[in-house]
Amino acid sequence: MFGKLTTTLTAIGLSALLLAAPALAGPIVIKFSHVVAENTPKGQMANKFRDLVKERLGDKVLVEVYPNSQLFGDNKVLEAMLLGDVQMAAPSLSKFSRYTRKLQLYDLPFLFENMDAVDRFQHGPYGQKLLQSVSSKGLIGLGYLHNGLKQLSASKPLRVPADARGLKFRIMSSDVLAAQFKALGATPLKKPFSEVFTLLQTRAIDGQENTWSNIYSKKFYEVQPYITESNHGLLDYMVVTSAEFWNGLPADVRSGLESALREAIAFGNQVAADKAKSDKQKIIDSRRSEIIELTPAERAQWVEVMKPVWKQFEGEIGKELIDAAYGANQAGK
Ligand code: SIN
Repeated sequence: MFGKLTTTLTAIGLSALLLAAPALAGPIVIKFSHVVAENTPKGQMANKFRDLVKERLGDKVLVEVYPNSQLFGDNKVLEAMLLGDVQMAAPSLSKFSRYTRKLQLYDLPFLFENMDAVDRFQHGPYGQKLLQSVSSKGLIGLGYLHNGLKQLSASKPLRVPADARGLKFRIMSSDVLAAQFKALGATPLKKPFSEVFTLLQTRAIDGQENTWSNIYSKKFYEVQPYITESNHGLLDYMVVTSAEFWNGLPADVRSGLESALREAIAFGNQVAADKAKSDKQKIIDSRRSEIIELTPAERAQWVEVMKPVWKQFEGEIGKELIDAAYGANQAGK
């Protein structure tokens, strides 16, 4: 009787050990997937995060970074995250429209005058609340990361809005960006980032909008003879994870990851500020693409044509939110 009990207890103990075995077997793996090159603000931030986690959490957590759409492209990464196939990503704020309409705010043309205004808004109560706008869909917004202001590149010089009429532009998957190009009388095409270079090279499209670092690192400037320095829109990111994964982590690991991420984001933001200048200069030095600077009068024309898009999306985004974001420009004056 006693021997049988011992055998049963041993068997229970063994099965418990076996069940626990996968958890003991190795580190928690975080796959961090993104679509840009490693020498970009996001690429650098992700690598910094990986290195800080290794330094601080040792063998407990292993961050694997997958750049250049190697693991997932734009359209799949959030679905994959909810399925547990990837644990972290930082899609551009323009790529969340299937999860929330509120983040469309950030795509409104000529909303922010500079990155200081973006910072003021994102650090304020409205910006912070927007990080939670995807929570009902099972995602957690862990923080914002900058890339910078977008420029327009094209196969012909764009000085005034009429120059863009009839041209085809690749855009991210955002209805606001579609409306922005329609306002110009142009044709917007929603395409993944990984396809942009080939679309431009084969002349399947005439232009696109992006930041200096993306235009440089993906060599768009080699196949686009003109870049208009329009600074007309923002390309920023939200670092996200799935609530199921994040809430299931041990508390000490979670707080270690949070502090590593804060530091990595600060680093990435500095890279963004530096690259907005240095990558622009590299493009100028290459002489592959002519940079068009707008006069105040020309710029005013772009604002006049694009800004009515705000009204179109006011219902979905909310006037209060738009006013708060626009107000961040004034706060710095
Ligand atoms: C990115 O910076 O993550 C990609 C931006 C784009 O799709 O244009």
